[in-house]
Amino acid sequence: MRVDFNVPLEEGKVADDTRIRAALPTLSALIEGGASLGLISHLGRPKGTDAKLSLAPVAKRLAELIKREVPLLDDSVGPRVEKAVRAMEPGDVLMLENVRFHPEEERNDPAFARQLAAGFDLYVNDAFGIAHRAHASTEGVAHLLPAYAGLLLERELVALGGILDRPAHPFVAIIGGAKVSTKMDVLRSLVPRVDTLAIGGGMANTFLLAMGRPIGRSLAEPEKETEARLVTDEVEGNGKELLLPVDVIAAPSADAEGASGAGTYEVDEVPSHLAIVDIGPRTIDRYARVIKNAKTIFWNGPVGVFEVPAFANGTRRIAELMAESGATTVVGGGESVQAVEEAGLADKMTHVSTGGGASLELIEGKTLPGIAAIPDR
Ligand code: 3PG
Repeated sequence: MRVDFNVPLEEGKVADDTRIRAALPTLSALIEGGASLGLISHLGRPKGTDAKLSLAPVAKRLAELIKREVPLLDDSVGPRVEKAVRAMEPGDVLMLENVRFHPEEERNDPAFARQLAAGFDLYVNDAFGIAHRAHASTEGVAHLLPAYAGLLLERELVALGGILDRPAHPFVAIIGGAKVSTKMDVLRSLVPRVDTLAIGGGMANTFLLAMGRPIGRSLAEPEKETEARLVTDEVEGNGKELLLPVDVIAAPSADAEGASGAGTYEVDEVPSHLAIVDIGPRTIDRYARVIKNAKTIFWNGPVGVFEVPAFANGTRRIAELMAESGATTVVGGGESVQAVEEAGLADKMTHVSTGGGASLELIEGKTLPGIAAIPDR
């Protein structure tokens, strides 16, 4: 079973086990079905073998969660691994060591994929977070063994796919994050589907710039102004609503030191020596109005510099408003997920994706190789 146990570590321990817990339904279903289970994952981006990126802390955490031993093999391929795999009894769970210790993994090397498959009868892919990469353990192996989607993969596809295929209206998308350049394809895919598009975070500054607003020293991508204008025209030209910040929090710098000099400004009054770091109270009220009426809400990307507590208010309010909304709420992507987790509101959402890049690519309408390779997807 391919899992995405690419989790943050701190001092040799798993700092956030969300991705491990997310794979437990599939894991239990397979064990209860009498399988013996070998788990394959990557961790980080090692260049060759790297003890700091061993899956040992992950195997330990998994063993705690499922209350059984999870031995970690010292490699992901080779005769010893194959022997251990073949020696498993029904109900046994073992982990292969970080599959990225071999560069052949990311090259999707066919001989390496054959080595990975050796000893196994079936392949289950439950690694949604890595489904956008065509690697040996996500794509190659799926052609060598009977391949199936796991329950997490299914849940992700139903929730994120549902946003694209048949969202209940009004459908509101809230898109934030630092750079508009990384979100252009997401915006293009969402614009025809939404009723309201709310834009916040650093990327909103490029839209404000395109409208001739003064943005002071804020982060922006002037070379993307034309594209921002096209998105604005497309939303408004189709009778839809575009929500950009009407007021903002601006500060001398976007770090903790900047907090003491921060203030609230209308978007046409941002002083030239300040940078926009969060959305303001009137903007939050406007977001609140559409969130309250929405039947479907998709959120990706923080609307302010949320890693600095003084500038996290807008992002936290979005999480709270979504949690209270009663709509179908889907949170996709790394930082907005982090914000929802930090606010303790993850279980109040319909779906919080375990994928960062993978959830964005799915919303962009791209084919994910890890999913395309499964015949009965
Ligand atoms: C993720 O954390 O988004 C996935 O595990 C993919 O990791 P990668 O970006 O290193 O391929």
